[in-house]
Amino acid sequence: MSALNEIARTLVSNRRGILAADESIGTMSSRLEKVGVAATEENRRVYRELIVTTPRLSESISGIILADETFRQKVSNGRTFPEFLADLGILTGIKVDTGAKPLAGAPNETITEGLDGLRERVKDYVRLGATFAKWRAVIKIGDNLPSDRAVRANVHALARYAGLCQEGGLVPIVEPEVLMDGAHSLAQCQKVTTAVLESLFDELDLMQVQLDGIVLKPNMVVAGTDSSEQPSVTDVARATVDALRETVPASVPGIAFLSGGQSPEVATKHLGAMQDLSPLPWELTYSFGRALVGPALETWRGDNANWDAAQKALSERAIANAAAR
Ligand code: 13P
Repeated sequence: MSALNEIARTLVSNRRGILAADESIGTMSSRLEKVGVAATEENRRVYRELIVTTPRLSESISGIILADETFRQKVSNGRTFPEFLADLGILTGIKVDTGAKPLAGAPNETITEGLDGLRERVKDYVRLGATFAKWRAVIKIGDNLPSDRAVRANVHALARYAGLCQEGGLVPIVEPEVLMDGAHSLAQCQKVTTAVLESLFDELDLMQVQLDGIVLKPNMVVAGTDSSEQPSVTDVARATVDALRETVPASVPGIAFLSGGQSPEVATKHLGAMQDLSPLPWELTYSFGRALVGPALETWRGDNANWDAAQKALSERAIANAAAR
């Protein structure tokens, strides 16, 4: 077994999943402000400390994805975040993309940037304790969207990112997110998700990415948030698994879903319903951000009197998702 395959399998097995705590400085700042916490570097650090010091987190969380700022900060005991997580038996991931920027010639669509200098950054992150990485591509459904050029440009960048990570010894989490925004149907989301994944695996093949050394992080196939026809949990599970069965080779060890704005409870239900569709060739698990940490942030609100209750809220979501597996 290769080192990359071993890391990828560790991330997705034993009923554990990944926690995405890698919000950019801008996104984290606005989420803190929404709950009345000043958006300072120290408050972003304290909030991430609340997450990683949650008791027994390693029983349900295999890896935590950090943003560069947190990756270089320290927990109160003096350990860096990657060192602290390693002590707990949790792998450290690093978000290496630099964000989704407007794509030339494609109004309302984006291309995720961050390839320049990535080889050197990967080396640095490995030296400082990262074992895996994340890159998020964003695909929008709408009138005549997504365009072929947005899909092609984004899967091309994902494949080049994945190749550079593997060359440097990091397992790439490959995240093509088809957004929930809009009034589209479940069937439309399934069609677009299937097409994006098909194009992604063509590009990964072209770039000679080792498929047993990646983790795929897709959206679940759902109807748009503004759609009047909301499918049942079983319909979502079936549509998602159908899209994956059609496109994802069995050599991929695991698929870890993003939550994408679904409520924490609904995301967990969808994940649970998919397990009932086994046998499946890959592990299916979570790599949730909001669906894991949302309730904890709402509970904490920057008040240390709420610290334990906030950790309990995170713990409950983590345990519920592990149980859904
Ligand atoms: P959500 O689960 O909140 O969608 O975040 C996951 C993630 O990492 C997005 O890049």
